[in-house]
Amino acid sequence: MKEYRNYQLKGNNTFGIPALCDRFIEYAGGEELKSLYEQGIFNGQWMSVGCGANLLFCGDYHGVIIHSVASGIKVLEENDNNLLVRADAGIILDDFIEHAVSNGWGGMENLSAIPCSVGAAPVQNVGAYGVEAKDVVECVHVFDTSNGLTRTFSNVECTFGYRNSSFKSNPQYVVLSVDFRLTKAGSHQLHLDYGNLRSSLPADITSGKEGALREIRGAVRRIRREKLPDPAEIGSAGSFFKNPVVDRAVVDNLLKDYPQMPFYEMKNGCKVPAGWLIEQAGWKGRKMGTVGVYEKQALVLVNLGGATGFDVWNLAQSIVASIRDKFGLEISPEVIKVP
Ligand code: EPU
Repeated sequence: MKEYRNYQLKGNNTFGIPALCDRFIEYAGGEELKSLYEQGIFNGQWMSVGCGANLLFCGDYHGVIIHSVASGIKVLEENDNNLLVRADAGIILDDFIEHAVSNGWGGMENLSAIPCSVGAAPVQNVGAYGVEAKDVVECVHVFDTSNGLTRTFSNVECTFGYRNSSFKSNPQYVVLSVDFRLTKAGSHQLHLDYGNLRSSLPADITSGKEGALREIRGAVRRIRREKLPDPAEIGSAGSFFKNPVVDRAVVDNLLKDYPQMPFYEMKNGCKVPAGWLIEQAGWKGRKMGTVGVYEKQALVLVNLGGATGFDVWNLAQSIVASIRDKFGLEISPEVIKVP
């Protein structure tokens, strides 16, 4: 275990926003969390941070940040069709996907290049190009900071939703590792129907094609590079807002004024792309001092250099108000403001 005092978080959030935390502790697994529990760390102010890809620091954090550096990958069981793989929370999700694709394990290739740790993937139920973490998570092993015990959540117990899970409303659970059910050659199920994914791939792509997973991973990475800023170059947290889900009647009403508005029918309503709403409201590419709306994807707010968390937050609030005025819709941040 390693501990740092008065730790600078600028490199631990993809917005690249400077903020200090009182204590930053790197831990390697459940045993070390148990010892932190025995020291009473979880009785005070604390939070768990992976890659910091979904956080906006609006000031210093007066508490303890714990950060997993656990990095084990283990095949737990395997048959002709699929396998169950355990990955520790501290692994970068994209490194794990690279490992999976290199081994011919399918299921996560569409999630390539999402900046996130394995531990954060089920919390946020990360998703991209028609696949969500919930589609591949068999179970999640957690440490319960309320009683110092470990516990396993089955996929159903995680109550996954759109960018949501039971872990989001129960932050006492810290993810230790995740078991993923992945497919082997002959059993891959490709998801190619989202957006322009299929048209970015060779026409002969099939689940049986040698190298299909690698081709999909490559195409997803290319599409993301074209639309989303690389956090190493421009600070952002990916999509800043969630896409609002509204009743069909609301969509029908809006279609009268905006017949070209895209929307997707879901089980519980219709998802309207917030990126489209923000672009229509004239925000795309706008710069306001140190912050701006990314010119290639209006759902992404960017740090143009030297931004504070409040600069970003104020821009976000102006966007929310303008979408409310123009469309009567409420968009809410996917990003979590700290403190
Ligand atoms: N759109 C616009 N203008 C924009 C952006 C989007 O008109 O500036 C329209 C597009 O033309 C399209 C629709 O909005 O009709 C959807 O756009 P896109 O496919 O780019 O997806 P998104 O809804 O904007 C979501 C996720 C992304 C994920 C992509 C691809 C959320 C909040 N965002 O974005 O996730 O990569 O789908 O699956 O659900 C993230 O969560 O950080 C993230 C990047």
